[in-house]
Amino acid sequence: ATTLGASAAQTGRYFGVATSAFRLSDTNYMTILNREFNSIVAENDMKWDATEPQQGRFNYTNGDRLVSHAQSRGMTVRGHTLLWHAQQPSWAQGLSGSALRNAAINHVTQVATHFRGKIHSWDVVNEAFADGGSGGRRDSNLQRTGNDWIEAAFRAARTADPGAKLCYNDYNTDGINAKSTGIYNMVRDFKSRGVPIDCVGLQSHLGTTLDSTYQQNIQRFADLGVDVQITELDVQQGGNQANIYASVTRACMAVARCTGITVWGLRDPESWRTGANPLLFDGNGNKKAAYTAVLNAL
Ligand code: XIL
Repeated sequence: ATTLGASAAQTGRYFGVATSAFRLSDTNYMTILNREFNSIVAENDMKWDATEPQQGRFNYTNGDRLVSHAQSRGMTVRGHTLLWHAQQPSWAQGLSGSALRNAAINHVTQVATHFRGKIHSWDVVNEAFADGGSGGRRDSNLQRTGNDWIEAAFRAARTADPGAKLCYNDYNTDGINAKSTGIYNMVRDFKSRGVPIDCVGLQSHLGTTLDSTYQQNIQRFADLGVDVQITELDVQQGGNQANIYASVTRACMAVARCTGITVWGLRDPESWRTGANPLLFDGNGNKKAAYTAVLNAL
């Protein structure tokens, strides 16, 4: 096939891109998005600050615009993200204890209910593990409500949208290391106790090298009985960019339970990683070498 989405679909996978409602009116951008991708995710429009700017007052305008665009083009939608320590509305940042816990679970329930049936996979919880060697949880206002906040969120999400795959998503998990092992142990525990979890997202914001255990790491999560999704792929531009993109794609293709790849933006100048030029298209919308490397690896 000649596009990323159609090539991924040949093996039952999706190839997605992070986008925003305000880009729907950019013609060059949308021509590429509509041509190449069969899945989208909101880069910001479905986060807590965007969807519940005031407590109990929900705003789904931009999320709904993205969903409706996707549906009109036959694309699927990833949901990102129900709970995260960052991009919380200021009212939530000011809460703690049971008031915060209740607000967080209500947020999960309301948002997952609103989008029920329209999201193929939700990042229920994002970035809850610490960097470094501890393998433990990140300190955050949510974590301080009790270690069980993650499982409470997954249970609420399952009840609200039983058809969506429920993912745990994180970064610096691009090989076998203390952080990815901490997440691995949580998933194994959830599976053994019947806490609903279906997938692990590896963000894969990558530098100029790829961990040699990248595929092995995907495989060990798959062996626990969850899907793996590459959820926010971007790669620092440098000599190895195309090779790293190809290696990531091949690693996913080699594991049956690696069900899809999403790149975190379309054209280089719009990337959140300023100056890294980490994406598949340049500022004019031209395909980069990295694009061809991915297409050939699918
Ligand atoms: C980033 C967006 O790309 C930016 O536009 C925003 O200002 C900050 O968040 N990990 C995640 C994403 O899970 O939600 C982040 O997205 C990038 C890191």
